[in-house]
Amino acid sequence: MIPPSRNLSRWLASICTVLAIAAFTALTTTTTAATSDARVAQSSRSQILLGRQLVMEHACSECHGGNDNPAAAGWLDGVRSPIQEFKIGPCAVDPSAQPCFTTRPKNITPDNETGIGKYTERQIFNALRYGLRPEETPDVAITSMTPGKGNFPANPKYLAPPMPWNAWRHMPDNQLWAIAAYLKRGVKPSSHKVPDSDRPPDAWASFMTPKDIGNYPAVAFPTSNERAGEGVHAQVQRGRYLVISHDCAACHGGADPTSNGWLAGVMSPAQEFKIGPCAVDPKAQPCFTTRPKNLTPDNTSGIGRFSERQIFNALRYGLRPEETPDVKITSTTPGKGNFPVNPHYLAPPMPWPSWRHMSDADLMAIAAYLKHGVKPVSNKVADSEGPPDFWVSSYTPKDIGTYPAPKYPTANER
Ligand code: HEC
Ligand code: HEC
Repeated sequence: MIPPSRNLSRWLASICTVLAIAAFTALTTTTTAATSDARVAQSSRSQILLGRQLVMEHACSECHGGNDNPAAAGWLDGVRSPIQEFKIGPCAVDPSAQPCFTTRPKNITPDNETGIGKYTERQIFNALRYGLRPEETPDVAITSMTPGKGNFPANPKYLAPPMPWNAWRHMPDNQLWAIAAYLKRGVKPSSHKVPDSDRPPDAWASFMTPKDIGNYPAVAFPTSNERAGEGVHAQVQRGRYLVISHDCAACHGGADPTSNGWLAGVMSPAQEFKIGPCAVDPKAQPCFTTRPKNLTPDNTSGIGRFSERQIFNALRYGLRPEETPDVKITSTTPGKGNFPVNPHYLAPPMPWPSWRHMSDADLMAIAAYLKHGVKPVSNKVADSEGPPDFWVSSYTPKDIGTYPAPKYPTANER
């Protein structure tokens, strides 16, 4: 569901310890050995559960299949229709413009033929940290960030946009390993072949400069777009990390906190979205233009006029801050508790159905960063278009899964 028109520059240590203890206790008594086996299984299970949580809250299934619902058919097994493919290049805005590359989110279930079954967890780690295609990158620890330095390939074969590895790479090692563990060991293999993505002769290398994808590691807080000194410093820093590692800027503006227009909202038609059948056929109807808003704390054009609770409600429930009072929402069902009977939801492709899976503390940290850690920028973004029901019929549990997520394992998991 994410953007056909998305801007190109965008989008074991503990196990070893447990094993050592297991080996040691196995020498003593069989009962403790059995307990230790259980602990190894437990530790692998908690790694898989962490990986699942991260896959849920990073919107992987909005591109790779399953729409935020691990119980849905096609969970993570890749695109099935042209509407889920991406057009990268000038053709994203003008269909007749060239060059035009069709890219396709792959099958990331552990099927050996059509999925990631034949790759090691390290190869998946390398895809998420460095953007290196697992198919063309050996199973080795990468020793540098710069092409040609250490064993980083001199001519890297990068994953096609809009795979947001530039954001995922900011997660710490243990989180990327957990995602790899979940994909390899927590999901059932599903046989579904996705054709290769098109690519330019340089395998995207010229689009992967720091100017396009930001710096790694992130530049220290605060940059000239940011401000320290307001709000709780640790909470603001946590929020900043979450904003960077969830790729908010891919839609809301900027490659990283040093960029002009960091989180200031769309500034050109190339950053808008066409939602509806027109995303594939420009003449088809209905067609809604939607626009990522200005998230800086400007009082007139940004989120300055909303409370942190209103921003939280937008991220957890998808409720438009403009039309949702500053109250704690007491239910997740329209008409129950104080959840509006006729909710006014944020327009797609705002991925709140994924963001809502973050913890309360994380969502509040994001709100704190937006309100206190970013400098206000005046940039009025026109309202998004939408259907009369404010997207209610697009946000049923069938479309976006349930909150909280269904219990692990579903029929697609193991
Ligand atoms: C905005 C869309 C989008 C999102 C969100 C997304 N991906 Fe991808 N991903 C892609 C595309 C497109 C490709 C294909 C790249 C190519 O063909 O070179 C891809 C490829 C991959 C690959 C390489 C598979 C292979 O066989 O080469 C892995 C692994 C992967 N994604 C994991 C993830 C994970 C994990 C997440 C969530 C943390 C995620 N992706 C979120 C678009 C996305
Ligand atoms: C794939 C594109 C996309 C991504 C990624 C994205 N957003 Fe959005 N966001 C949108 C769009 C489009 C809107 C406008 C919705 C509307 O007009 O109803 C929006 C609206 C919002 C709003 C409501 C602002 C207002 O003034 O009403 C907030 C808050 C927000 N986004 C926060 C975030 C945060 C935080 C992240 C990262 C965790 C994020 N967004 C990532 C597309 C995106």
